Amino acid sequence: MSTEQSLDGDAAIVTGASSGIGEATAHALAEDGADVALAARREERLESIAADLEDAYGVETLVVPTNVRDEDAVDALVEETVDAFGGLNLLVNNVGVVAGEGVDDLATDDYRTMMEVNVDGYFFATRAALPHLRESSGTLVFIGSFAGQYPRPFNPVYAASKWWVRGFAKSVSADVGEDDVAVTTINPAEVRSEFASESGESFEERFERGEASEPTEIAEAVRFAAKQDPSMVSELDLYRRDKLTFF
Ligand SMILES: NC(=O)c1ccc[n+]([C@@H]2O[C@H](COP(=O)([O-])OP(=O)(O)OC[C@H]3O[C@@H](n4cnc5c(N)ncnc54)[C@H](OP(=O)(O)O)[C@@H]3O)[C@@H](O)[C@H]2O)c1
Repeated sequence: MSTEQSLDGDAAIVTGASSGIGEATAHALAEDGADVALAARREERLESIAADLEDAYGVETLVVPTNVRDEDAVDALVEETVDAFGGLNLLVNNVGVVAGEGVDDLATDDYRTMMEVNVDGYFFATRAALPHLRESSGTLVFIGSFAGQYPRPFNPVYAASKWWVRGFAKSVSADVGEDDVAVTTINPAEVRSEFASESGESFEERFERGEASEPTEIAEAVRFAAKQDPSMVSELDLYRRDKLTFF
Protein backbone atom coordinates (compact mmCIF):
# COMPACT_ATOMS: atom_id res chain seq x y z
CA MET A 1 0.00 0.00 0.00
CA SER A 2 1.53 3.31 -0.97
CA THR A 3 0.92 6.67 0.69
CA GLU A 4 1.32 10.15 -0.71
CA GLN A 5 4.52 11.98 0.06
CA SER A 6 5.11 15.71 -0.17
CA LEU A 7 7.37 17.02 -2.91
CA ASP A 8 8.53 19.83 -0.65
CA GLY A 9 12.23 20.53 -1.33
CA ASP A 10 12.48 17.79 -3.98
CA ALA A 11 14.56 18.53 -7.06
CA ALA A 12 12.85 17.94 -10.41
CA ILE A 13 13.81 18.29 -14.06
CA VAL A 14 11.11 18.78 -16.67
CA THR A 15 12.12 18.56 -20.34
CA GLY A 16 9.97 20.36 -22.89
CA ALA A 17 9.04 22.80 -20.14
CA SER A 18 8.47 25.86 -22.33
CA SER A 19 4.87 24.98 -23.28
CA GLY A 20 1.97 22.56 -23.01
CA ILE A 21 2.28 19.54 -20.75
CA GLY A 22 5.80 20.43 -19.61
CA GLU A 23 4.84 23.95 -18.52
CA ALA A 24 1.74 22.66 -16.71
CA THR A 25 3.81 19.93 -15.05
CA ALA A 26 6.36 22.47 -13.81
CA HIS A 27 3.48 24.37 -12.19
CA ALA A 28 1.97 21.25 -10.62
CA LEU A 29 5.29 20.13 -9.12
CA ALA A 30 6.22 23.60 -7.88
CA GLU A 31 2.78 23.99 -6.32
CA ASP A 32 3.67 20.94 -4.26
CA GLY A 33 6.97 22.52 -3.19
CA ALA A 34 9.42 20.98 -5.68
CA ASP A 35 12.35 23.00 -7.01
CA VAL A 36 12.19 22.74 -10.77
CA ALA A 37 14.83 22.84 -13.52
CA LEU A 38 13.19 23.87 -16.77
CA ALA A 39 14.67 22.60 -20.04
CA ALA A 40 13.74 23.40 -23.64
CA ARG A 41 15.21 25.56 -26.42
CA ARG A 42 13.22 28.82 -26.00
CA GLU A 43 15.07 30.56 -23.19
CA GLU A 44 12.77 33.60 -22.87
CA ARG A 45 9.75 31.39 -22.35
CA LEU A 46 11.58 29.35 -19.72
CA GLU A 47 12.67 32.53 -17.90
CA SER A 48 9.10 33.79 -17.81
CA ILE A 49 7.71 30.46 -16.56
CA ALA A 50 10.47 30.26 -13.92
CA ALA A 51 9.58 33.75 -12.67
CA ASP A 52 5.91 32.71 -12.43
CA LEU A 53 6.81 29.60 -10.42
CA GLU A 54 9.01 31.53 -7.98
CA ASP A 55 6.34 34.22 -7.48
CA ALA A 56 3.45 31.81 -7.11
CA TYR A 57 5.01 29.03 -5.03
CA GLY A 58 8.25 30.38 -3.53
CA VAL A 59 10.32 27.51 -4.92
CA GLU A 60 13.75 27.59 -6.50
CA THR A 61 13.98 27.27 -10.26
CA LEU A 62 16.74 26.77 -12.77
CA VAL A 63 16.52 27.67 -16.44
CA VAL A 64 18.72 25.49 -18.62
CA PRO A 65 18.25 26.16 -22.35
CA THR A 66 18.75 22.68 -23.79
CA ASN A 67 18.45 20.98 -27.14
CA VAL A 68 17.80 17.35 -26.15
CA ARG A 69 19.32 16.17 -29.44
CA ASP A 70 22.71 17.19 -28.02
CA GLU A 71 23.92 14.65 -25.46
CA ASP A 72 26.51 17.00 -23.95
CA ALA A 73 23.80 19.59 -23.37
CA VAL A 74 21.58 16.99 -21.69
CA ASP A 75 24.45 15.81 -19.47
CA ALA A 76 25.09 19.45 -18.51
CA LEU A 77 21.37 19.92 -17.71
CA VAL A 78 21.46 17.10 -15.19
CA GLU A 79 24.80 18.16 -13.67
CA GLU A 80 23.73 21.81 -13.32
CA THR A 81 20.51 20.73 -11.65
CA VAL A 82 22.27 18.45 -9.17
CA ASP A 83 24.79 21.22 -8.38
CA ALA A 84 22.08 23.83 -7.90
CA PHE A 85 19.57 21.76 -5.92
CA GLY A 86 21.89 19.30 -4.17
CA GLY A 87 20.52 16.18 -5.86
CA LEU A 88 17.74 14.92 -8.11
CA ASN A 89 14.46 13.29 -7.08
CA LEU A 90 12.43 13.40 -10.27
CA LEU A 91 13.02 13.46 -14.02
CA VAL A 92 10.03 14.10 -16.25
CA ASN A 93 10.94 13.04 -19.79
CA ASN A 94 8.29 15.05 -21.58
CA VAL A 95 9.87 16.65 -24.65
CA GLY A 96 8.36 15.40 -27.90
CA VAL A 97 7.63 16.44 -31.48
CA VAL A 98 5.70 15.23 -34.49
CA ALA A 99 6.85 16.01 -38.02
CA GLY A 100 5.54 15.02 -41.46
CA GLU A 101 2.94 12.28 -41.93
CA GLY A 102 2.97 8.96 -43.84
CA VAL A 103 6.07 6.90 -44.52
CA ASP A 104 6.01 7.22 -48.35
CA ASP A 105 6.83 10.89 -48.41
CA LEU A 106 8.37 11.40 -44.96
CA ALA A 107 11.50 13.54 -45.38
CA THR A 108 14.62 12.09 -43.81
CA ASP A 109 15.01 15.31 -41.81
CA ASP A 110 11.55 14.83 -40.28
CA TYR A 111 12.35 11.20 -39.48
CA ARG A 112 15.58 12.23 -37.75
CA THR A 113 13.89 15.05 -35.84
CA MET A 114 11.34 12.66 -34.31
CA MET A 115 13.90 9.98 -33.53
CA GLU A 116 16.47 12.35 -32.06
CA VAL A 117 14.00 14.30 -29.92
CA ASN A 118 11.53 11.58 -28.89
CA VAL A 119 13.99 8.68 -28.56
CA ASP A 120 17.57 9.97 -28.17
CA GLY A 121 16.38 12.83 -25.96
CA TYR A 122 14.74 10.42 -23.50
CA PHE A 123 17.74 8.10 -23.53
CA PHE A 124 20.31 10.86 -22.91
CA ALA A 125 18.32 12.35 -20.01
CA THR A 126 17.55 8.97 -18.44
CA ARG A 127 21.17 7.84 -18.64
CA ALA A 128 22.43 11.05 -17.04
CA ALA A 129 19.77 11.08 -14.32
CA LEU A 130 19.80 7.45 -13.18
CA PRO A 131 22.85 7.59 -10.87
CA HIS A 132 21.26 10.52 -9.03
CA LEU A 133 17.82 8.91 -8.92
CA ARG A 134 19.37 5.77 -7.42
CA GLU A 135 20.89 7.94 -4.70
CA SER A 136 17.57 9.62 -3.89
CA SER A 137 15.29 6.58 -4.49
CA GLY A 138 13.69 8.91 -7.00
CA THR A 139 11.13 8.76 -9.78
CA LEU A 140 11.30 8.73 -13.56
CA VAL A 141 8.21 9.79 -15.48
CA PHE A 142 7.96 9.22 -19.23
CA ILE A 143 5.33 10.93 -21.35
CA GLY A 144 4.32 8.24 -23.82
CA SER A 145 1.18 8.38 -25.91
CA PHE A 146 -1.95 6.63 -27.08
CA ALA A 147 0.03 6.52 -30.35
CA GLY A 148 2.48 4.17 -28.64
CA GLN A 149 -0.24 1.68 -27.68
CA TYR A 150 -2.19 1.03 -30.88
CA PRO A 151 -1.15 0.74 -34.53
CA ARG A 152 -1.54 4.09 -36.25
CA PRO A 153 -2.27 4.55 -39.96
CA PHE A 154 -0.87 8.09 -40.04
CA ASN A 155 2.65 9.04 -39.02
CA PRO A 156 3.92 5.54 -38.14
CA VAL A 157 7.33 6.97 -37.25
CA TYR A 158 5.90 9.23 -34.54
CA ALA A 159 3.87 6.26 -33.26
CA ALA A 160 6.93 3.98 -33.30
CA SER A 161 8.93 6.54 -31.34
CA LYS A 162 6.23 6.40 -28.64
CA TRP A 163 6.16 2.57 -28.70
CA TRP A 164 9.91 2.83 -28.07
CA VAL A 165 9.30 5.17 -25.13
CA ARG A 166 6.95 2.66 -23.50
CA GLY A 167 9.29 -0.26 -24.19
CA PHE A 168 12.25 1.64 -22.84
CA ALA A 169 10.37 2.78 -19.74
CA LYS A 170 9.19 -0.74 -18.90
CA SER A 171 12.65 -2.21 -19.41
CA VAL A 172 14.36 0.55 -17.41
CA SER A 173 11.80 -0.13 -14.71
CA ALA A 174 12.81 -3.80 -14.67
CA ASP A 175 16.46 -2.73 -14.50
CA VAL A 176 16.14 -0.23 -11.62
CA GLY A 177 13.24 -1.62 -9.62
CA GLU A 178 15.58 -3.29 -7.14
CA ASP A 179 17.34 0.04 -6.70
CA ASP A 180 14.13 1.62 -5.43
CA VAL A 181 13.72 3.90 -8.45
CA ALA A 182 10.09 4.26 -9.56
CA VAL A 183 9.17 4.44 -13.25
CA THR A 184 5.82 5.62 -14.59
CA THR A 185 4.69 6.07 -18.19
CA ILE A 186 1.77 8.39 -18.89
CA ASN A 187 -0.09 7.94 -22.15
CA PRO A 188 -2.25 10.88 -23.19
CA ALA A 189 -4.44 10.92 -26.28
CA GLU A 190 -5.03 14.39 -27.77
CA VAL A 191 -3.98 17.29 -25.55
CA ARG A 192 -4.70 20.95 -26.31
CA SER A 193 -1.12 22.26 -26.53
CA GLU A 194 1.21 23.69 -29.15
CA PHE A 195 1.84 20.10 -30.27
CA ALA A 196 1.92 19.67 -34.09
CA SER A 197 2.35 23.42 -34.66
CA GLU A 198 5.59 22.77 -36.55
CA SER A 199 3.69 20.86 -39.22
CA GLY A 200 0.62 23.16 -39.40
CA GLU A 201 -2.33 23.56 -37.02
CA SER A 202 -1.54 23.00 -33.34
CA PHE A 203 -3.79 20.79 -31.20
CA GLU A 204 -4.71 23.92 -29.24
CA GLU A 205 -6.16 25.36 -32.47
CA ARG A 206 -7.63 22.10 -33.76
CA PHE A 207 -9.65 21.15 -30.66
CA GLU A 208 -12.17 23.20 -28.71
CA ARG A 209 -11.98 23.15 -24.93
CA GLY A 210 -13.70 19.93 -23.79
CA GLU A 211 -12.92 18.02 -27.00
CA ALA A 212 -9.50 16.87 -25.81
CA SER A 213 -7.44 16.84 -22.60
CA GLU A 214 -5.89 19.98 -21.19
CA PRO A 215 -2.15 20.03 -20.34
CA THR A 216 -3.08 20.56 -16.68
CA GLU A 217 -4.87 17.19 -16.63
CA ILE A 218 -1.72 15.37 -17.76
CA ALA A 219 0.30 17.40 -15.25
CA GLU A 220 -2.00 16.15 -12.47
CA ALA A 221 -1.15 12.58 -13.48
CA VAL A 222 2.58 13.37 -13.31
CA ARG A 223 2.13 14.88 -9.86
CA PHE A 224 0.14 11.84 -8.72
CA ALA A 225 2.89 9.47 -9.90
CA ALA A 226 5.64 11.56 -8.30
CA LYS A 227 3.88 11.61 -4.93
CA GLN A 228 3.36 7.85 -4.46
CA ASP A 229 5.63 6.37 -1.80
CA PRO A 230 6.55 3.70 -2.66
CA SER A 231 5.23 4.12 -6.20
CA MET A 232 3.66 1.17 -7.96
CA VAL A 233 2.23 3.29 -10.75
CA SER A 234 3.57 1.64 -13.88
CA GLU A 235 1.37 3.22 -16.52
CA LEU A 236 -1.52 5.70 -16.69
CA ASP A 237 -3.73 6.13 -19.77
CA LEU A 238 -5.56 9.44 -20.12
CA TYR A 239 -8.01 9.43 -23.03
CA ARG A 240 -11.17 11.32 -23.75
CA ARG A 241 -14.07 8.98 -23.07
CA ASP A 242 -15.04 8.27 -26.70
CA LYS A 243 -11.44 7.73 -27.81
CA LEU A 244 -11.70 3.95 -28.16
CA THR A 245 -14.85 4.11 -30.29
CA PHE A 246 -12.85 5.42 -33.27
CA PHE A 247 -9.19 6.08 -33.62
N1 LIG B 1 -0.47 17.08 -27.38
C1 LIG B 1 -0.84 15.85 -27.59
O1 LIG B 1 -1.91 15.59 -28.16
C2 LIG B 1 -0.02 14.70 -27.07
C3 LIG B 1 -0.60 13.43 -27.02
C4 LIG B 1 0.14 12.36 -26.54
C5 LIG B 1 1.44 12.57 -26.15
N2 LIG B 1 1.99 13.82 -26.24
C6 LIG B 1 3.38 13.98 -25.82
O2 LIG B 1 3.43 14.94 -24.78
C7 LIG B 1 4.72 15.52 -24.74
C8 LIG B 1 4.60 17.04 -24.61
O3 LIG B 1 3.93 17.55 -25.72
P1 LIG B 1 2.96 18.83 -25.66
O4 LIG B 1 1.62 18.36 -26.07
O5 LIG B 1 3.11 19.55 -24.40
O6 LIG B 1 3.56 19.66 -26.89
P2 LIG B 1 4.22 21.11 -26.99
O7 LIG B 1 3.38 22.14 -26.31
O8 LIG B 1 4.53 21.27 -28.45
O9 LIG B 1 5.58 20.98 -26.17
C9 LIG B 1 6.74 20.38 -26.69
C10 LIG B 1 7.92 20.85 -25.86
O10 LIG B 1 9.11 20.21 -26.35
C11 LIG B 1 10.13 21.21 -26.51
N3 LIG B 1 11.08 20.77 -27.54
C12 LIG B 1 10.84 20.45 -28.82
N4 LIG B 1 12.00 20.09 -29.44
C13 LIG B 1 12.98 20.18 -28.51
C14 LIG B 1 14.38 19.95 -28.52
N5 LIG B 1 15.01 19.55 -29.64
N6 LIG B 1 15.08 20.14 -27.38
C15 LIG B 1 14.46 20.54 -26.25
N7 LIG B 1 13.14 20.79 -26.17
C16 LIG B 1 12.41 20.63 -27.30
C17 LIG B 1 9.38 22.47 -26.84
O11 LIG B 1 10.13 23.61 -26.46
P3 LIG B 1 11.12 24.47 -27.37
O12 LIG B 1 10.46 24.66 -28.70
O13 LIG B 1 11.26 25.72 -26.56
O14 LIG B 1 12.40 23.68 -27.44
C18 LIG B 1 8.17 22.35 -25.94
O15 LIG B 1 8.50 22.81 -24.65
C19 LIG B 1 5.44 15.03 -26.00
O16 LIG B 1 6.29 13.96 -25.66
C20 LIG B 1 4.31 14.54 -26.87
O17 LIG B 1 4.74 13.53 -27.79
C21 LIG B 1 1.29 14.88 -26.67
